[in-house]
Formats: sequence, structure tokens, C-alpha cells
Amino acid sequence: MRTVYLIGFMGSGKSTVGELLHRKSGISYLDTDQMVVDQYGDIASIFEKEGETQFRAYETEMLTRIPDKNYVVSTGGGIVEREENHTLMKQNGMIIHLDTSFDEITGRLGEDPTRPLWGQYDSDKYKLYIHRRNCYTTLADFTIMTDQKTPETIVTEMMAFL
Ligand code: S3P
Repeated sequence: MRTVYLIGFMGSGKSTVGELLHRKSGISYLDTDQMVVDQYGDIASIFEKEGETQFRAYETEMLTRIPDKNYVVSTGGGIVEREENHTLMKQNGMIIHLDTSFDEITGRLGEDPTRPLWGQYDSDKYKLYIHRRNCYTTLADFTIMTDQKTPETIVTEMMAFL
């Protein structure tokens, strides 16, 4: 199986669904946020001390380390901010978009301090959402609507695609 990348906005459930797919199928699992944390420390501190550009460079570095077969990978919501990452994911595997409505996202995230960009965007949250969603839609090989679905249902839909 080619490596599968889960993309989608913050709060779309990429990590929950990725871990569940891993538990149900035995496919190895990686999370680019977790890889960055393991190597460089917590994300909020990276944003604060080193800035977003450096965080994006760390994300790209992690993508280059991921094997092109037999992995499911949860990505950070901003992975699409770098064109280079589009190419890395497209060349290396298949891309699944977890598509979640803006209302659902705002309900799930609230004012989450661990998600630096979300808190920082204030009135531009919807603009960020639309910009990102356009990127996810363009990149995806397969899209799963996630509103009102349990992680189990989403994983079942994903396994049917794989
Ligand atoms: C980000 C999303 C986060 C994390 C970082 C930046 C973003 O991941 O990578 O805080 O720019 O959307 P999640 O999508 O897992 O929240």
C-alpha cells in the first residue's frame, strides 16, 4: 500500500482517525506534529520562539523522512502552506482529505491555546478556513465528509477506499 496522508483543518480529526486506522488495520502510524514535538519541543513554544516559518521548515523535514509505503500519516492543518509539501506528499503517496464544516470546527476548537494559529487569527478565522480548504480540495485523491460521523465510521469509509 502507498503511504496515506490525512490532511484537513485543525480539529478535523486527523490524529484520532489516523490512530484508529492504525489500531484496526495494523498499518504503521506517524503524526508530523508529534515528530516535530519529539525532535524540537512543543509547537506553541516553537511558534513563539522561532516563528511559523521555522515550524513549517520542521514540518517539511519530517515529510522527507516518511517512507513511501505502508504508513498512515496525520499531518498538521498548515502542511499545505508550503508548495514543496504538496509535491512531497503527492509523489510519496495518496492523500485523504477529512472535510469538516467551519461551524463544526469552531465548535470543536473553541479557544484552544495549544493551536497557536487558531487563537491568533481572530476575525480572520473564516478566511484561513476557506484558503486552507481550497488547498485540501485541490490536493486530495479522496475526500471524506466528517460532520456528524464517528471516528469508526470515517475509518470504515477510509478502509473501503484503501
Ligand atoms: C497548525 C495546525 C496544527 C499544528 C500547528 C499549526 C495549522 O496541527 O501543526 O499548530 O497551521 O493549521 P493540527 O491540524 O493537528 O491541529
